[in-house]
Amino acid sequence: MTTFLLPTTPITSLDEYLATDVGGVGVATAQRLGPRATIDTIAAAGLRGRGGGGFPTGRKWAGIADQTDTRRYLVCNGAEGEPGTFKDRALLRANPYQVVEGLIVAAFAIGAEEAFICLKASFEREIAAVTRAVQELQAAGVCTDCTVNIVAGPDEYLFGEEKAMLEVIEGKPPLPRWFPPYEHGLFAASPQEGWEAGPHGTHRRSNEPNPTLVNNVETLANVPHILARGADWFRSTGTADSPGTVVATVVGDVVAPDVGEVELGTPLGAVIDAVGSGVAPGRTVKAVFSGVANPVVTAAQLDTPVSYEGFAAIGSGMGAAGFIVHDDTACMVDAAYRFSRFLYVESCGQCPPCKMGSGEITERLERIETGAGDDRDLGIIAHWLERVTDGNRCYLAVEEQRVVSSVLRAFPDEFAEHIEQHRCPRPTRRPMPKLLDLADGTATYDDAFWRKRPDWTYETD
Ligand SMILES: Cc1cc2nc3c(=O)[nH]c(=O)nc-3n(C[C@H](O)[C@H](O)[C@H](O)COP(=O)(O)O)c2cc1C
Ligand code: SF4
Repeated sequence: MTTFLLPTTPITSLDEYLATDVGGVGVATAQRLGPRATIDTIAAAGLRGRGGGGFPTGRKWAGIADQTDTRRYLVCNGAEGEPGTFKDRALLRANPYQVVEGLIVAAFAIGAEEAFICLKASFEREIAAVTRAVQELQAAGVCTDCTVNIVAGPDEYLFGEEKAMLEVIEGKPPLPRWFPPYEHGLFAASPQEGWEAGPHGTHRRSNEPNPTLVNNVETLANVPHILARGADWFRSTGTADSPGTVVATVVGDVVAPDVGEVELGTPLGAVIDAVGSGVAPGRTVKAVFSGVANPVVTAAQLDTPVSYEGFAAIGSGMGAAGFIVHDDTACMVDAAYRFSRFLYVESCGQCPPCKMGSGEITERLERIETGAGDDRDLGIIAHWLERVTDGNRCYLAVEEQRVVSSVLRAFPDEFAEHIEQHRCPRPTRRPMPKLLDLADGTATYDDAFWRKRPDWTYETD
C-alpha cells in the first residue's frame, strides 16, 4: 500500500526534504504548468478537503482563483480542535516542509496576496517546526515572492471553524461570522455592516469580498505529492470518490492509541486494528465516533469503508478521520453527555438556540446519566434537538443535533435502563478525548475541559 504523508523517520531539515523525490518538485511543477493547469491537476486528482467536510479541493481553488477583480488570501487551518484528532500535529512533526510547499503551490495557483498558517498557541512544537520550514524554504528561494504569516490562536474549538479563524487572524475572538470565506474574506468590510469598514485592521479593509481559501494542513500536505507524481498516481490509491490516503487517529478504548496513514476505503474495523492495535483482549467494539461532528457508528457497521461515501452511506461522516472507540463496557448515555457538554461549552452563543439548546440537552443528559432523569427529560431533549440549529451561523449546532440524536436512536435501551434503574448500569466514565499529545501508544487528554465553563472561563480549585 502506498503511504507518503507520514515518513517513518521525521524529516527535520530542508536538505532532507529536497533529497526526497517530492521536495521542491511540487512548486517547480506548478510554476511550469501555470496557475490554471495546477488547479486542473488538483481537480483531476480528486483530492478532497481533510478538515472534515471533504469538499473537492480543485473546485474550491478554482472558485477563489476565478474572482480576479479582488484581492485573494490563503489560510492553512492547523487549529486541530476536534476531539479524537491528532493527525495535523503528527504531520507537522513528521514533515512540515510538505505542508508549507503545498501552501506555496496553493498561493501561486489562486494568486494569493498573503498566506496565513494558523495553529493554536499551545502547539509550541508544531509552531517551531512550521516556522523553521517557512524560513528555510524562503532562504532557499523556493518561496521568494510569497508572504507567509504564522498565527498563534486560542484553544477554543471554534478557532478551527473557518469563519471564526478569519476573525482571529484579524485580531478578534473566535466567533464565526455570517458569510463563508469565499464571500467574505480576510480584511474585507463585513456585508452585514453594509460593507463598511469595521474597527479592526481598518487600514487594510477594502469594499471588496477578498475571497479567502481555507484548507486543512493534511489537504495541503497532499498537494506537492500530486504535482510531483501526477493525478493518475494519486488516483491509483483509495476509491473513485475518495482517492488517496488519510491520516487517521484512533483513540479511546484501544490498546495503543496512535496516528497512522491508511488507504481510503479500508474498513473501519481494520483501521482500528492497524492504527490503534484494536480493543483489549476479551473486549468488543460497541461504538465509534468520528470526532464529535457525526452520528455514532455501531458494532454492526465496522465494515464501513473509511471514505467520504462509505460513511455517508451509513448516514454518518468520516470527519477528520479521528476515531474515538468505545468498547462493550462503555455507557452510551455518558458518551452523549460528554460530547454534548463539549459542544455546549464551546458554543459561542451568538445564536441563542445553539447555546441554550445544547445547554438544556446537556443538563438533561447529565440527569439521566446520574440516575435522576425521567421521561420528561427525554421529551425536553427531543424538543431542543429539533430547534438547536435554528438560525445557526456555523455547523457546531448541527454537530450537537447529529451526535446526540444518533445515540438516542442507536441505544434507546441504555436510556431506558438509566431511567428505570435510577442509576448508570455501566459507571466507568471515559475521559473527554481532547488530545494534548499522542506518542508511543499513549494519549494525553486535556483534563482542563471539565473545568471549562460555558463562558470560556475556567473553574479554579
Ligand atoms: C466547530 C468546527 C470546528 C472545526 N475545526 C477544524 C479544525 O480544527 N481544523 C480544520 O482543518 N477544519 C476544522 N473545521 C472545518 C473548517 O471550517 C473548514 O471546513 C476546513 O478547514 C476546510 O479545509 P479543507 O477544505 O481542506 O477540509 C471545523 C469546523 C467546525 C464547524
Ligand atoms: S451555531 Fe453555535 S457555535 Fe456556531 S456561531 Fe452560532 S452559537 Fe456560535
